[in-house]
Amino acid sequence: VSLRHLNTFGLDAEARYFAGIRSVEELTALLHDPQWKDFPKFILGGGSNILLTKDIEALVIHPDIRGIEILEENDESVVLKVGAGEVWHNFVMFCVGKGYGGVENLSLIPGTVGAAPMQNIGAYGVEIKSVIESVEAVDIATGEKRVFSNTECEFGYRESIFKKALKNRYIITGAVFKLNKKPILNAAYGDVQKTLQEMGVAEPTIRDISEAIMQIRRSKLPDPAEIGNAGSFFKNPEIPLAQFDQLKETFPEMPGYPVDALTVKVPAGWLIEKAGWKGFREGNIGVHARQALVLVNYGGGTGAQIRALSEKIQASVAEKFGVRLNAEVNFI
Ligand code: EPU
Repeated sequence: VSLRHLNTFGLDAEARYFAGIRSVEELTALLHDPQWKDFPKFILGGGSNILLTKDIEALVIHPDIRGIEILEENDESVVLKVGAGEVWHNFVMFCVGKGYGGVENLSLIPGTVGAAPMQNIGAYGVEIKSVIESVEAVDIATGEKRVFSNTECEFGYRESIFKKALKNRYIITGAVFKLNKKPILNAAYGDVQKTLQEMGVAEPTIRDISEAIMQIRRSKLPDPAEIGNAGSFFKNPEIPLAQFDQLKETFPEMPGYPVDALTVKVPAGWLIEKAGWKGFREGNIGVHARQALVLVNYGGGTGAQIRALSEKIQASVAEKFGVRLNAEVNFI
């Protein structure tokens, strides 16, 4: 089975076996099936954060569990349970439409609801961890269900327990969100303020914020339906303040955001651009011309080529700035 339409890079890798799953019951039945019990398995959600560098010699399980269900509701807030297979942006649009605040800053992020907690998706000052109550999952080895509280998910910057200690151990089947009916807006991010101004909005609603963020994203991030990509390819590196101060002497215009008293986060896009890679193209792959943090497949490129390009970028940024870039995307 070709996985080309199941990864946003549009890479053409094959799955040895493939199972689309519609419900938790179907999933547990599959995991208990003696035929597949000891067979290697690979979980493929929205495919929006992976780089397929080769065929997958395993049973590829694609959770496609749908549904948005209200669990609790009062004047202040609403608690929703959402199936892992729901498209993330559709869920955001549902919330914006109903006036449920908390996810509007995460408009237009590619991928599914099930994949979102995995890397604690975040954008424009908000991370998904601020609205997640719990994550529902199934143990791949035993087929048993488990609910992870927000704390148990061990969320960090583009991190969770599902990428670390429990990597490849659980299949996320759904997530429970708590959203505000009296939204607390987050429009502090410079680009968001500027866009709201341009829109002529003085007192934004959650819909305005969502609109502004969609405009910003469309202006600099390529649409995976048109150009294959997985959003930011690298994480923004955190470096010691002392190193930042030293780099500032050579590169006074280098941006940086304090993480704590001793650490500064530097935009990887800036480092990559200054190392000369922005808009670089080699055959069918390259670096996006409007956001250097995004590697792209113009069509027909391979995962191995993209990996090789990412290594060249890492080496050149390390040489110029002495800063190590780590991939945000998962290499398969
Ligand atoms: N910049 C450049 N050149 C570039 C790109 C960025 O100089 O080509 C500099 C600019 O100075 C800009 C700064 O980097 O002010 C920050 O850029 P931007 O606002 O585009 O955000 P980012 O730090 O590059 C992060 C997330 C994005 C998220 C945006 C907005 C990571 C790895 N990426 O990007 O998330 O949408 O902030 O909050 O943290 C993703 O994870 O896939 C993703 C797109």
